Amino acid sequence: MNDVCPTGIIGLDEFLNGGIPRGNIVLVAGTPGAGKTTMAAKFLYEGLRRGEPGVYLSFLESKADFLRFMKLLGMDFEPYLRDGTFQYIEGLQSTTFEAARENLIEFLDAVARLGAKRVVIDSITAVTQMTTLRGARELIKNALVLGLRPYEVTGLIVAELPIGYEVVGYGLEEFIFDGVIILKSEFKNGILRRTLQVRKMRGTVVPEVELHYDIVAGDGIRVYAPVRIEEVGEPKNVETITPLEPINYIFRNLRRGSQVLLVVDKYVPSLAVGVLIGLSFAYSSGGKLLIRSFSKPPDIVKYVIDLISNAFPKSKLANAEIIIECLNPTQEPLYRLAHRARDNELRIRPDYLVIDPVSHLLKLSGGLHEFYRDHINNILMRRKLGITTFYAYADTEASELEPPVELYDVVARIRRKWGKNRRCYSVEAYGILKPVPPAPLTFCVDPEWRLVTEEE
Ligand SMILES: Nc1ncnc2c1ncn2[C@@H]1O[C@H](COP(=O)(O)OP(=O)(O)O)[C@@H](O)[C@H]1O
Ligand SMILES: [Mg+2]
Repeated sequence: MNDVCPTGIIGLDEFLNGGIPRGNIVLVAGTPGAGKTTMAAKFLYEGLRRGEPGVYLSFLESKADFLRFMKLLGMDFEPYLRDGTFQYIEGLQSTTFEAARENLIEFLDAVARLGAKRVVIDSITAVTQMTTLRGARELIKNALVLGLRPYEVTGLIVAELPIGYEVVGYGLEEFIFDGVIILKSEFKNGILRRTLQVRKMRGTVVPEVELHYDIVAGDGIRVYAPVRIEEVGEPKNVETITPLEPINYIFRNLRRGSQVLLVVDKYVPSLAVGVLIGLSFAYSSGGKLLIRSFSKPPDIVKYVIDLISNAFPKSKLANAEIIIECLNPTQEPLYRLAHRARDNELRIRPDYLVIDPVSHLLKLSGGLHEFYRDHINNILMRRKLGITTFYAYADTEASELEPPVELYDVVARIRRKWGKNRRCYSVEAYGILKPVPPAPLTFCVDPEWRLVTEEE
């Protein structure tokens, strides 16, 4: 597509149907530390990478600081300074409106000289504070938006948004700018939340929802757009039969990309059950298995994997790649954890994924709404990528929460079976993507997790 200007910001481009429509002058308003500079820099950097010259006018940061900070975030502007496709104009010394005007003239000259395709002014607030509201409006309208039009550039104009405010305050952003993006970074319930709103974007239709985003080394800004459900294909291929007979029986005809909830009763080791099922699939197809634990450290997960691997008849096994990922869900906001999980899966692209336990997340979330929003999107993404996922859910009597069964394709309930042999489990599975087995099935394991026949 030629008529859009990709920002290079993962998530934002998909959300904007490819990028910012070419020729748009967009206001980026945000609270202090929200990532306005990072976003603007990323936008310009993406242009440079694509051979589109760019000019950055900053009233806030020296060139040296800018280059250094952006390098830390994964953007090296220096080659483009050297080859002359990038120019950074410092306006830090300008303490009067007249001096700032000089900077703007220098800026427009540079735009013409470089044949710039993308431009940034960071921030306009530094200049408008030196004048009256009327002066500010004049400047924005005439010098910036109308002044930039003849150059046919796409531009981001940064403005400060005081914490708690909803509007920038010039009273003309709605009609003079072609687009308005609001970035907010605010503490709510003791957790820093970064939210992005596209209030307006001429030339494209965007979903009317607020997005979360993060600032990450390497990517700069990462926006989490909802998965477009129409792009999620139906799971077609039936999974490879597993080498373990009882598991085979329970999960026969499971389709690739299925999302399976494993509701485990009290006193059933959810990690072991998840690992057993995950390994069954990985060892039969030779796929990539990601085991993510929200409660156990890597050494324990590794121990369980080694123990259970012994249960498989070695001769028939394909080579599986097993990746362990342990995350402490109290270490960061839950939405960020969900994003991290999503990013890691996009990078690793596992065939199978075991998550132990998902019940933790529901209990830790600020509410069902918060849990569902991210969880639904992660489930959709896994369906889209065809990652067959098993979610262990510890169903304890003490909990008033019900497992969110409606989100999954298959639900298996694993109960402890009491009797002489105390390591027997009964499994009952039902779901829309697999035929319902006639009755619950019992499997038993010895202390080494080798499957043994049930003793009466
Ligand atoms: N290397 C980094 N890794 C992750 N986050 C970073 C890094 N560097 C800066 N940040 C985050 O980026 C924020 C600053 O972004 P910036 O674009 O300068 O904000 P603004 O221009 O809106 O004030 C800081 O609050 C910090 O949390
Ligand atoms: Mg800034």
